[in-house]
Amino acid sequence: MDLMEAMEARHSVRQYDGRPLDPLVEQALRKMIEKVNFDSGLHIQLVTDEPKAFDGVLARYGNFVGVTNYLAMIGKKGPKLDECIGYYGEMLVLGMQRLGLNSCWAGLTFTRQPEVLQIERGEKLSLAIAIGYGLNQGKPHLSKTPDQVSENWQQSPDWFKDGVRAALLAPTAVNQQKFRFSCEGNVVTVKPGSGFFSKVDMGIAKYHFQLGAGKDNFTWAK
Ligand SMILES: Cc1cc2nc3c(=O)[nH]c(=O)nc-3n(C[C@H](O)[C@H](O)[C@H](O)COP(=O)(O)O)c2cc1C
Repeated sequence: MDLMEAMEARHSVRQYDGRPLDPLVEQALRKMIEKVNFDSGLHIQLVTDEPKAFDGVLARYGNFVGVTNYLAMIGKKGPKLDECIGYYGEMLVLGMQRLGLNSCWAGLTFTRQPEVLQIERGEKLSLAIAIGYGLNQGKPHLSKTPDQVSENWQQSPDWFKDGVRAALLAPTAVNQQKFRFSCEGNVVTVKPGSGFFSKVDMGIAKYHFQLGAGKDNFTWAK
């Protein structure tokens, strides 16, 4: 499965069989996290065999079942943290999909377990991503149309259209898809819109856009 196929196959999964991660899969995932943390400066942590975070009232309200493994999305507080967590978190989500793991981003429906995390001074835990072997593969979300999330859709170049289509496959908090893409020549601008976790969503959508458009075809506006 390549990354584009992973993007198509990924849907949020909230019911898991509770099995521990296969040791080779866990090893590969730890390597991916190490690289992402090195490249991004984030402090993402893999938590395994920890059933409490997704077993409280909030998680049950969110229909989570059998979650014993998750990523704790931790990083230094700052204006770019949310976008950075979205971008690099989705890199891990799609990487995990390729390893046969299902996932679900969780901003609200989990309970922090500070005793299993290392949160250094100046850092914060923004969200968690439940991971594991799903009892189902989830289902495609209802989606906005490309012209609802971009400017001048009809006149846009093909690479831009492919990028926007890929962004529409991205997970967003409460499926809000508030981001908006535009391009001038080969310079692409994206705006987050307002709403819960909309900057995390924008980071996720940027990663999808880049995969769909091909990163050699454009640059991001400063
Ligand atoms: C930043 C963010 C926060 C989210 N928080 C939650 C959450 O707290 N609980 C939950 O059940 N789903 C959560 N989700 C999952 C979204 O509901 C889901 O991505 C969206 O409905 C689209 O569905 P899909 O992921 O299957 O494409 C979150 C997703 C994102 C990107």
